[in-house]
Amino acid sequence: MGIPFLLLTILLLSLQCNASPVDGNGKVANLLFYLHNTHNVSDPSSVLVAQNTNATAHARGLVPFSSVYVFDDVLTEGTASTSKVVGNAQGFYIETGKDGYTILETIDCEMTDGPFKGSSFLMSSRNQFSNPTRELPVVGGRGAFRMAQGYGLLRTVCVDCLDAVNPSKGDIIEYNVTLYLR
Ligand SMILES: *[C@@H]1O[C@H](CO)[C@@H](O)[C@H](O)[C@H]1NC(C)=O
Ligand SMILES: *[C@@H]1O[C@H](CO)[C@@H](O)[C@H](O)[C@H]1NC(C)=O
Ligand SMILES: *[C@@H]1O[C@H](CO)[C@@H](O)[C@H](O)[C@H]1NC(C)=O
Repeated sequence: MGIPFLLLTILLLSLQCNASPVDGNGKVANLLFYLHNTHNVSDPSSVLVAQNTNATAHARGLVPFSSVYVFDDVLTEGTASTSKVVGNAQGFYIETGKDGYTILETIDCEMTDGPFKGSSFLMSSRNQFSNPTRELPVVGGRGAFRMAQGYGLLRTVCVDCLDAVNPSKGDIIEYNVTLYLR
């Protein structure tokens, strides 16, 4: 226990993201990044893999009930998709709400840059994406995030964004994640 904790302490001391001690038992880290989810483009980062045949006919919201999407999304430092890539998020979301605006989202975020490079954490919960802000619980992680707990605050930056700094039309979501490390 002593050595891993020491290594973690050394790792955290070299962070540029915010990490500070919490009551002597662990550390808290805050990660802020932007997820880019593209769907109606030639090489989309999320694809529809299944849907009940009646889903579209009964659709009440944006995403027909029962739709299953798999995604591999880029995570960047800034809101622009052309800004520095800091990680990627792989997972799936299922339209579990008959309202057409609520997905069950399971997302594994792996950092590919910075002090947490190679480590990932998993969030999983329902996500009513029609709300401007949402919360997802962190249910665990790998590497530096092993046994992590925490929460992510999500904010929609824009939907179907297409401008000079976002050439691949997609949705941009801010993820502000607070992790309690052990
Ligand atoms: C997908 O994009 C095409 C052209 O860019 C557009 O005509 C079509 O309406 C879009 N479909 C959806 C579902 O957004
Ligand atoms: C679709 O709806 C029809 C009519 O309500 C029903 O007979 C059929 O079983 C449904 N199909 C599926 C796959 O749920
Ligand atoms: C991110 O979340 C933390 C804690 O929940 C909060 O203190 C901070 O202001 C948030 N940052 C942004 C950019 O929203």
